[in-house]
Amino acid sequence: MNAIGAYFSPSGGTKRACELVGGLFGAEEYINLGGRERAQRSFGKDELLVLALPVYAGQMPAVPGLLDGLKGENTPCVILATYGNRHYDDTLAQVKHLLGEQGFRCAGAAAVITPHIFAPTLGEGRPDEQDKAVLEQFVQGVKDKLAREDWAEAAVPGNPTPAPKPAVPVKKDRDWDTCLGCAICAKACPTGAMDLKTLMWVDSKCISCMSCVSACPTGALGFNSSLIAQKLTANFSARREVETFLEG
Ligand SMILES: Cc1cc2nc3c(=O)[nH]c(=O)nc-3n(C[C@H](O)[C@H](O)[C@H](O)COP(=O)(O)O)c2cc1C
Ligand code: SF4
Ligand code: SF4
Repeated sequence: MNAIGAYFSPSGGTKRACELVGGLFGAEEYINLGGRERAQRSFGKDELLVLALPVYAGQMPAVPGLLDGLKGENTPCVILATYGNRHYDDTLAQVKHLLGEQGFRCAGAAAVITPHIFAPTLGEGRPDEQDKAVLEQFVQGVKDKLAREDWAEAAVPGNPTPAPKPAVPVKKDRDWDTCLGCAICAKACPTGAMDLKTLMWVDSKCISCMSCVSACPTGALGFNSSLIAQKLTANFSARREVETFLEG
């Protein structure tokens, strides 16, 4: 079975998790779902999609049409929700539902802890060796399942159609002295929230993903999440473990 990874990963944790799990399935092709344009890929029923998305406010990133370019044909998929040690809430259910509408069947799903971009001590160093051992077992379970003729989709917790939530308010700024005017930041923005000419943000379109900040080659962009970090660190520092879902 030909495995293909796909990820949306502004700060790199989701990409690492996708490559870790995709690698265990032998994936050699990876699709980056970030940026202004939506990646397109059609999948046959003998392929396997390994899709990894970060959790934002308990849901998948609110990028309009984020998964629209992925088209399955009763294609098996594995869903990974990466999150910063608070919780993944409705993300797995939401992604499973949307991928179902795109022609995919969920063979397995996992919630994987990665560093929290706004509070990096949460999920620091994750996924670690302990996580890898759990994920290796999970991947073996998916392989065994797919080897059977008839398999039931994995049941996952959460609401498949949650009401949209407002974006986490995190202020960004630009140091115009070190800005080259290259617009790499605006091209990296998945929602078109940054004007390509003026390079200014349209707050109503911003989902606080920080793709713009991560993409800037000079470090001219920054954000301040210290208040959010304090709250998160005070309440969600206890280690959470990787959860996997295989059974129907
Ligand atoms: C806007 C936003 C909202 C987030 N909400 C949550 C959350 O509800 N629960 C959680 O545990 N982590 C949350 N996180 C942390 C991300 O899930 C975590 O940083 C993830 O690893 C980011 O993936 P990346 O490294 O691929 O960008 C949030 C991050 C952002 C940017
Ligand atoms: S402007 Fe907002 S939505 Fe666009 S990349 Fe930056 S943080 Fe993400
Ligand atoms: S990517 Fe950085 S240097 Fe380039 S325009 Fe944006 S802020 Fe300026």
